[in-house]
Amino acid sequence: MKQRVFSGVQPTGKLHLGNYVGAIRQWAKHQDDHDNIFCVVDLHAVTIPEAVDPKLFRAKILEVAALYLACGIDPEKSTVFLQSHVAEHSQMAWLLNCLTPLGWLYRMTQFKSKAGNNEGVGTGLLDYPVLMAADILLYDTDRVPVGEDQKQHIEFARDLAQRINVMFPDAKLKIPAPMIPPAGARVMGLDDPTAKMSKSIAETKNGHAIGLLDTPSRIKKAIMSAQTDSGNEALFESAGPGVRNLLDLYEVLSNQDREVIEAEFHGQGYGKLKKALVEQVVGCLEPIQARYHELTDSPDYLDQILRHGAERARSIAGATHERLRKAMGFV
Ligand code: TYM
Repeated sequence: MKQRVFSGVQPTGKLHLGNYVGAIRQWAKHQDDHDNIFCVVDLHAVTIPEAVDPKLFRAKILEVAALYLACGIDPEKSTVFLQSHVAEHSQMAWLLNCLTPLGWLYRMTQFKSKAGNNEGVGTGLLDYPVLMAADILLYDTDRVPVGEDQKQHIEFARDLAQRINVMFPDAKLKIPAPMIPPAGARVMGLDDPTAKMSKSIAETKNGHAIGLLDTPSRIKKAIMSAQTDSGNEALFESAGPGVRNLLDLYEVLSNQDREVIEAEFHGQGYGKLKKALVEQVVGCLEPIQARYHELTDSPDYLDQILRHGAERARSIAGATHERLRKAMGFV
């Protein structure tokens, strides 16, 4: 039996190279060795309702689904669907809500940083980790391939599953493990290498990120103006954060050993590293963009994949939800 993998991306902001190397590329790479379920987590995307423009939201959901396929997710090997198409996600989240201590939610760093002291934020923002735990636990997931920023959310899902298995032993929820890539798990902003590359900043600020659908000239501009320092050192262990970010990206995309990369770029001035990185990024994104445009030309094909994906997802999620319902005593 292959181990089951579940993961998802929120259809918000602008998908970027961090989402690709931290998550989607890993999904595609390990597809043959796992039973894969990939979801566009559209219900999570409305936890900040002020940012939702219905027309744009609809387009963004389909864009993310098409990008999964364009990045190499093969619908023959992986189930691809939209979270809101499978009602069990919301139903499971309600049961989990009732089994989650409120204190666990107040401790989550994402909630603290997004909500601050604003009591006007939606309850969904506080509840976000519960819905994410529902996503993962519904599929008896073994492994969750994500970037480093999602670690706390997966710990939360593990803790919650363990708690529920003690309260209702017949629930038999599977305890999931994170799967974080050895390189590329935390790509930093090109304009500010002390902050994570972010979809929402990418949407409003040029030069922050490399969008998966950016043109070669835009990619070049962003990389050539990336923040570095006044030196010319290109050594992984001693580089400042800006140079280290470029080196890390180059390593991930070129698949070269660190010694080879250092020998090529150390002591050379950062222009050489930046130009080489532009080539790597453009070379990596070109086929993805070509496939993406093919897919957007045939919306019926995507629609059919999503329908089929939702059916399969529903059959698995329905059984787990029912198991928890029964374990809790529902008729
Ligand atoms: P989201 O939509 O913010 O990000 C999608 C994936 O991209 C990874 N990622 C990064 N990796 C490297 N460097 C970066 N700068 C970077 N930024 C983002 C994220 O770690 C993630 O893997 N809560 C999730 C969505 C979610 C989910 C789930 C994930 C909902 N339910 C169940 C897994 C399983 C999120 O907001 O990801």
